[in-house]
Amino acid sequence: MIHDLAARALHLLDPEEAHILAIKALKAGLGPSDGALDDPCLAVELCGLQLRSCVGLAAGFDKNAEVWAPMLRAGFGFVECGTVTPLAQSGNPRPRLFRLSEDRGVINRLGFNNQGLEAFAGHLAARRGEGIVGANIGANKDAEDRIADYVTGLRRLWSLADYFTANISSPNTPGLRDLQSGAALDDLLGRLMVARKDLEAQSQAAQDVRRRPIFLKVAPDLDDTQIMDICDAVARHGINGVICGNTTLSRPDTLRAGSKGETGGLSGAPLTALSTQMVGRFHACAAGRFPLIGVGGIGSGADAYAKIRAGSCAVQLYSALVYGGPGLVLRIKRDLAARLRADGFVSVVEAVGAG
Ligand SMILES: Cc1cc2nc3c(=O)[nH]c(=O)nc-3n(C[C@H](O)[C@H](O)[C@H](O)COP(=O)(O)O)c2cc1C
Repeated sequence: MIHDLAARALHLLDPEEAHILAIKALKAGLGPSDGALDDPCLAVELCGLQLRSCVGLAAGFDKNAEVWAPMLRAGFGFVECGTVTPLAQSGNPRPRLFRLSEDRGVINRLGFNNQGLEAFAGHLAARRGEGIVGANIGANKDAEDRIADYVTGLRRLWSLADYFTANISSPNTPGLRDLQSGAALDDLLGRLMVARKDLEAQSQAAQDVRRRPIFLKVAPDLDDTQIMDICDAVARHGINGVICGNTTLSRPDTLRAGSKGETGGLSGAPLTALSTQMVGRFHACAAGRFPLIGVGGIGSGADAYAKIRAGSCAVQLYSALVYGGPGLVLRIKRDLAARLRADGFVSVVEAVGAG
């Protein structure tokens, strides 16, 4: 409760200052601790990763991999850090983060502000194998060869993260979403897979046989042809799965908050229905060829369950923490487990795509 009160007090501050303060508090050990064992029905194996619960932290909260440990302690089944770019960059000018309190939403146009790969790697080097931590990799705004930046991220972090996400769907780096289609997508996935093959050979030579899946994170603003092309490219190249999805450029008519006209990506409750629908469309198109991770506006057990029934094997959330505080993850897990049992499912795995 204290943590939830603290989360509410943060609303008195500018959103970005509040986030910086929250990271400092977590680093100082002031985060919540979920001492309870997760309900076994929430456990899932995702491309070789053993998740103790299918509810994870989405990218963007821990851009520099500073608080993966406190967020695992808070109850997330896995934590995705980043997006990290090879070189540090400051992102777009402030203000660039807006609460849409009346809508329980967020708009951001941060633009991949982060401390760069070396700082990120330094923070992950403290890991001793606890929990599942992923690295979300991206490209510097001014990179001449953006795809090379993804390969650089994969190579630098290979031994430090459990999985990788190529984020090609941020709306705040001009032109980045062009990587979601055609020859650019083929080139990106091809070069990532060549690098992975090489890295896997090096790991095997060092007796390290851990599997490190690569996921692709896409936008929720895609039409059916784009979805089909992405699914085919992912399957053809052997990418392990799709994270569906990022923030949206669309603005539902229902938005009421004063900041609704700000430029950037919209997330939180106004994104829930759109992203669940996208998961369903990807699920139909993927046809079992690879798993999906559903993200977008999850703020309750019911939201998480809807994403799973639409076809997600695991889910992630971020924006709802702004309104629900860090205690939210416990409530979501408890409610999700109760809903699975009420519908007669012994495991979350049985419910994937059931809707
Ligand atoms: C402030 C903010 C920063 C974000 N930064 C990133 C990022 O760096 N990389 C990324 O892949 N997604 C980023 N996201 C998107 C989230 O990971 C997530 O896909 C999206 O917000 C939808 O989930 P949500 O409604 O639960 O927040 C960010 C979202 C927010 C609100």
